[in-house]
Order: sequence, then structure tokens, then C-alpha cells
Amino acid sequence: MDIRLLTSADLPLIQHANLENLPENYFLKYYLSHALSWPQLSFVAVDASRPRRSEYEYPKIVGYVLAKMEEEPADGVPHGHITSLSVMRTHRRLGIAEKLMRQSQLAMVETFQAKYVSLHVRVSNVAARHLYEDTLRFQNEKTEAKYYADGEDAFCMRLDLGAIR
Ligand code: ACO
Repeated sequence: MDIRLLTSADLPLIQHANLENLPENYFLKYYLSHALSWPQLSFVAVDASRPRRSEYEYPKIVGYVLAKMEEEPADGVPHGHITSLSVMRTHRRLGIAEKLMRQSQLAMVETFQAKYVSLHVRVSNVAARHLYEDTLRFQNEKTEAKYYADGEDAFCMRLDLGAIR
């Protein structure tokens, strides 16, 4: 499995993966704004082992992390934010999400001197909460009631990036 930076050419495939994996979906221009404004922070996982039918066929994207810097942080502290993360069902529990997250976190520090990274996650999302809380050691800052369109609450989580400075 290769992890590489996301490019604008990947965006339709990312949008497709997002639609498959999550109820939070975005217009293409929102993905584009991430790729153009913070090209260092978003990554894709590519299944390089899958045979390509021709030299023109794009390798299959099996996961992505879409990330940004908070443009006007309320606390005045430069920090990153994970907009969306997903891995295709066929490729889950292989450590891909952890690798994508760690790459993005490192780039936030190296490129933008981010002090921490934040994200929202559904309270019912067992897999993602395991990744964030137990594997990556995010802390739950607060609960935002009815954050999602269907009324579910979100945990607002953050991870201090001091350890990788
Ligand atoms: N139940 C319990 N633990 C799980 C599960 C699960 N279903 N899936 C993964 N984990 C654990 C792994 O065992 C591993 O733990 P370990 O470090 O103790 O071994 C840890 O989580 C990381 O596992 P990865 O293999 O890196 O995770 P994976 O590549 O399978 O991706 C993800 C996890 C992204 C949550 C995937 O299940 C997915 O795409 N789900 C649907 C989309 C989603 O929920 N995205 C996150 C939304 S929040 C946001 O976007 C900011």
C-alpha cells in the first residue's frame, strides 16, 4: 500500500470514496479548496498491488485523509483540522487510516507549525473513536449536541502535536 499526497486529479475518486463511506458529503469545490490551499496536508492510500488494465488506468484509491489549517483560529493558536477520513471497506483494519492520519499530522507540524489538530466524530462511530482515542490518543474536549444533520451528537477531539515537534 502506498501513501502519497493527494493531487487535484484524485478529487473525483475522493468524492466517490466519501460518498461510499460517510454521510457527510461535500461539493467538489470544497475538496478543491483543500488541495489548493493546503496541498501538503491531504493524503491518499493507493493499492499499488492491483493490476492496471492499461498504462492510462489510475491506480485504485482505497483511502484518504482530507485536512486543512484552521484559517482564523478562535484561540489564536495555529492548528490543523481533519475534515474527512475514510478507508474503503475492502481495505479496513490494515492500519491505513492510522498511517494517513500520522502523515497529515507530521505535515501540519513541519509545514505550518501546527500546535494541535482537531476533528469531530459521531459519538456512535466505534471504529473511528477507537482510532482517535486509543491508537492516536486524541482527547475529547467537549460534546456538540446535534452537530450532525440527522441530530446525532459529535465529540470534538484534539491531539497536542508537541510530541512530533
Ligand atoms: N472496531 C473497533 N476498532 C477498530 C475498528 C472497528 N470496526 N476498525 C478499526 N479499528 C481499530 C484498529 O483495530 C486499530 O486499533 P489498534 O491500533 O489498537 O490496532 C485502529 O482502529 C486503527 O485501525 P486502522 O486499520 O488504521 O483503521 P482503518 O484503516 O480500518 O480505518 C476508519 C478506520 C477510517 C474509521 C474506517 O473504519 C472507515 O473508513 N469508516 C467509515 C468512515 C468513517 O467513519 N470515517 C471517520 C469519520 S470522522 C472524520 O472524518 C473526521
